[in-house]
Parts: sequence; C-alpha cells; structure tokens
Amino acid sequence: MVSAARIMQRCDALARHSEQPGGLTRVFLSPQNRAANELVLGWMREAGMRAQVDAIGNVVGRYEAERAGAPCLMLGSHLDTVRDAGRYDGMLGVISAIECVAALHAKRRQMSFALEVVGFGDEEGVRFGTTMLGSRAIAGVLDPASLEARDANGVTVKDALRQFGLDPLRVPEVARRKGDVIAYAELHIEQGPVLEAEGLPVGVVTAINGFSRMRATVSGMAGHAGTVPMHLRRDALAAAAECVLAVERLAKSDAELVGTVGRIEAKPGAINVIPGEVRFTIDIRAPRDELRARAVHDVSEALEAIAAKRGVACKVEMLQELGVAKCAPWLMQQLERAIAAEGVRVRRLPSGAGHDGMAMKTLTDIAMLFVRCKDGISHNPAESITEADATVGARTLLRFIEDFELPA
Ligand code: GLV
Ligand code: MN
Ligand code: MN
Repeated sequence: MVSAARIMQRCDALARHSEQPGGLTRVFLSPQNRAANELVLGWMREAGMRAQVDAIGNVVGRYEAERAGAPCLMLGSHLDTVRDAGRYDGMLGVISAIECVAALHAKRRQMSFALEVVGFGDEEGVRFGTTMLGSRAIAGVLDPASLEARDANGVTVKDALRQFGLDPLRVPEVARRKGDVIAYAELHIEQGPVLEAEGLPVGVVTAINGFSRMRATVSGMAGHAGTVPMHLRRDALAAAAECVLAVERLAKSDAELVGTVGRIEAKPGAINVIPGEVRFTIDIRAPRDELRARAVHDVSEALEAIAAKRGVACKVEMLQELGVAKCAPWLMQQLERAIAAEGVRVRRLPSGAGHDGMAMKTLTDIAMLFVRCKDGISHNPAESITEADATVGARTLLRFIEDFELPA
C-alpha cells in the first residue's frame, strides 16, 4: 500500500528547506540542498534501500534484487528547484518512487531486477546556468567543461562540489554502464493544463521537447541620462527590449514553438545612467529539432539586425542544447497497462518541460508518468496537486514496477 498522505507530508517537509523565507528556492549544492538530501537519505533507508550521495551530489538509493547485483530499473526525479518554486516539481517523483519501494519492502517483495531511486541534484540549472548535471553524470555524458561553469558569485561547480564535501575528480565514477540500467522511469507533475482539462489524474508522456538555452550580451555606451540627446545614444537596454519582442514574435510564428526571455540584467543599473551593457537569457523549445534549430538561427539573425540598426554590439552564446527525447514504446505500453488497471482512461501527451530523461536517454530507454496539477501552474508557488491524484500516481507507478517485464 502506498500512502499519499505521507507523500504530501514529505513534499511539505522538503519545501521547508529553502533559502527564501516564506517561499521555496533550493539550488544545487546549497546548504538547503544538503538538508534536503539528509531527509531523502533517511526516507530511502527507512524504505529498505542502501543510500548515499554520489560524487556529483545526487542522492541514490538501491533496493536490491532477489539476486544481488542484478541490473536496475531506475526511478527518480530532481531535488533542486527554480526560484520561488512550487513544492511538487521534481520532489513528487522522488518521494513517490521511495513510497513504492517502501510498499514493496513492507511486504518483503524483491524483484528479479534491482530498483534504484535517484534524487538528481541539478535539473533546473538555476545556479550554474547549465542543467542536468546529475543525470548527465549518471548517463556518462557530462562534459568536464560543465564543471567549470560559474554561479553568479564566480564559484565553479568544481569548487562548490568541494565545499559540499565531494571530490570532483570522482565525478566520472558516477557514470553507469549500459546494461546496468534496464530503463529509467520518472513520475512528474504535468506542469500544463491538458490532464486537468480532460478530467484525468495521470497520463503517459510520448516525448520531451528539445530546448536551446542561450545568453545574449548587448553592449552600447553608458552615459548621462540628462545630457546625451536621444539621437546620440547607444542604449543597450532599449536595444535589448526590442530583442525581447523579437524573440516573442519569432516564437509566435509557429504554434509548436515557445520562446522565453526569463532573466535580464542592465548595467550599470542606475536611474540616471543610460544602460551600457545588458545581458539576458533566451530559452527556445520545440517538439521538432529542426524547427528549434531554425528558430535559434532566426533569433540570432534578428538580434544582429536590431543591434546593427541601433549601433550596439550583440553577442549570442549557446549555453546548452538538448534534442527531443522520445519515450520508449515498450515502456509506454507498460505504463499504459498500469494506468488502465487503475481504471483511468489512457491519455498520451508530450512534455513541454525539460526532464532528466533527456540526459538519461543516452544511457537507457526512458518513460514518464505525468500527474495532473491544478490549473496547469508550475514554476510558481501556486503549484498544487491533490492527495487523490498523488494516490493514483503512486499506485500506477507501483503497479508498473510490480508488473514490469524486461524487454524481449
Ligand atoms: C525545467 O523545469 C525546465 O523545463 O526548464
Ligand atoms: Mn522545473
Ligand atoms: Mn521538474
């Protein structure tokens, strides 16, 4: 039996570990990250798992198979959050997976395969601007250059790992061998409105849309806000404003595209100074990689044209790109069987949000189970789910595990 009441309580307990009083912000390798890890390690051990934090800061629990050392079915999600986050994005998947293992442990049931639950340390990429450090390390595709990425205070991932008590030299040891992980399955809130509109508590993900994350730097000329006539200015922020609108216009040119400028910073940043330099982020996503590649190209061209027209310089750097990650049909079918057995109509849907499966896909086949969330709201403190839906989600995941069939 899974206890959704306990799942909800644990989501609440994790939400208390936040750098932001009265809200939830917990970034990778922060003191709050450490406290959350401690909680999760305790829950994993209580559920019969061996658990530890790996060299990149993931919490990893293993529930042994009947035959020790057998390959595992990997479950999980992430423990980091965006700024001013909701309490279910990521955490629900980790806690629900632990709950499933606890249910198996309670009846002393072991499977022919091991179960591993991972609480990935960094999926959102908030602190270092580069996402999925934890899952990329496990998948064995973490470029060592990513460990040189810096946070806003100039601290590198490597330094932050050391300060956290981890050894960056050991990060390569985190990588799993193909064959040791049979599949990766993640339960996650939908973060969109489709399931709610159709009155369904859960759904099966078909694919995760690809994304491109960029940083633009516009350089103009700082100057006195009172003395420089308008026609002689090279205002970096006014140029950036036009760039933001260009991103929006291009993203609207195709119903399958989305584009967002989520962060902008103007320097020197004073009421009486013409902005001399502006940096902003661009996030572009699409369900087709060629469409996204074209949008990235069009955005870069549009920004260049705006900069030329306004006499400023504009540099666009690609921070990270991940292609569309298709879920494996053999896993989708097994999730669908579990959903139907719970008496729920099977609904397939794509994921507009990014997930660790995008990285895990390079190691093993992936699948995702979505749980309905209120009004489709996510990346927002108003994120909300019901205990009844958490029950259906966890029961479906448990059934999927218990009936899991290895690929032929
Ligand atoms: C993560 O939530 C992302 O989609 O950026
Ligand atoms: Mn998120
Ligand atoms: Mn998430």
